[in-house]
Amino acid sequence: MASIPRTVFSRTSRVLPRTTAISSFQQHRTYAFPAQYQTGDKQTAIVTGSARGIGKSIALRLAQDGYDVCINDIPANKQGAEEVAHEISQIGRKSTVALGDVSVLSEVESVVRSSVDALGPLNTMVANAGIAQVKSLLELTPEDFERMFRINVFGVQNCHSTAAKQMIAQGNCSVEKPGKLIAAASIVAFRPFPLLSHYSASKYAVRGLTSAYAMELAQHGITVNAYAPGIVGTAMWDLIDEELGKTKGAAKGETIKQFSRDLIALGRTSEPRDVAGLVGYLAGRGSDYLTGQTICVDGGIVMS
Ligand SMILES: NC(=O)c1ccc[n+]([C@@H]2O[C@H](COP(=O)([O-])OP(=O)(O)OC[C@H]3O[C@@H](n4cnc5c(N)ncnc54)[C@H](O)[C@@H]3O)[C@@H](O)[C@H]2O)c1
Repeated sequence: MASIPRTVFSRTSRVLPRTTAISSFQQHRTYAFPAQYQTGDKQTAIVTGSARGIGKSIALRLAQDGYDVCINDIPANKQGAEEVAHEISQIGRKSTVALGDVSVLSEVESVVRSSVDALGPLNTMVANAGIAQVKSLLELTPEDFERMFRINVFGVQNCHSTAAKQMIAQGNCSVEKPGKLIAAASIVAFRPFPLLSHYSASKYAVRGLTSAYAMELAQHGITVNAYAPGIVGTAMWDLIDEELGKTKGAAKGETIKQFSRDLIALGRTSEPRDVAGLVGYLAGRGSDYLTGQTICVDGGIVMS
């Protein structure tokens, strides 16, 4: 008989009034659960890397859709995270800030615990945090490669595994009303960009994990999907534009303009809200029958 690991669940026992040892996650599904969370429409989500960019837009979109939202980012972006939380409170939803590095499992466990303590049971995890780096494959160091995978792949694994254990222990997920795990992939999970090769490989891994998680977690009433943005005007693309521009002698802003013009059928660079629209759908009831998918939201670059 295994006990629920204290690191993840100990403080949630205030919300889930039961600490009895259990034999399998399947048994968690039958746990008693406070009445206010069984039938109400209250929904909570964690969005990682949401102090700015796509994550911020997703957090605000989920709040507009009725979610209470936990804002996560690294400590260096504390101020941005607090500003997003404030914007959410102005929408009339609850929010909390839980700083932590998604590449460190214990920090993700602490983020999930803080979210549940402040907002209540977890319905949706959006593993959005990620990094990019422009470098040729032959110049990559083992450290470059490891950092990319630690944040973009281990980060998703840490978020999904911790959130799934939490949801299973809560016992409130079912095929009719699934818990939702959502991750940031990219169009480079379908076709790599040169000089973004280890980034592309990390996003292929996110796509693979998404399908694998969907297969294993369906029995627990949890769906798992990923969004694959194209070229979105954020700090991440500012960096990519600058670094790719250096390799071709292009001025700042030129590469993103050229890529948008030549690659995007709809003819404009994406904005974070384009991506947030898809994530709002994936987090909402309209997508309850969708699982294991990585969906491009790119204005028509990769057509599946
Ligand atoms: N911008 C694009 O064109 C684009 C395209 C495809 C996919 N994506 C993906 O979308 C996601 C968001 O991208 P963005 O453009 O908003 O990037 P961004 O750099 O603007 O924002 C990413 C946020 O994640 C945070 N973060 C980074 N490492 C973290 C860590 N270890 N723990 C917690 N937070 C961390 C950063 O501090 C930042 O606030 C990323 O996963 C990215 O790979 C972006």
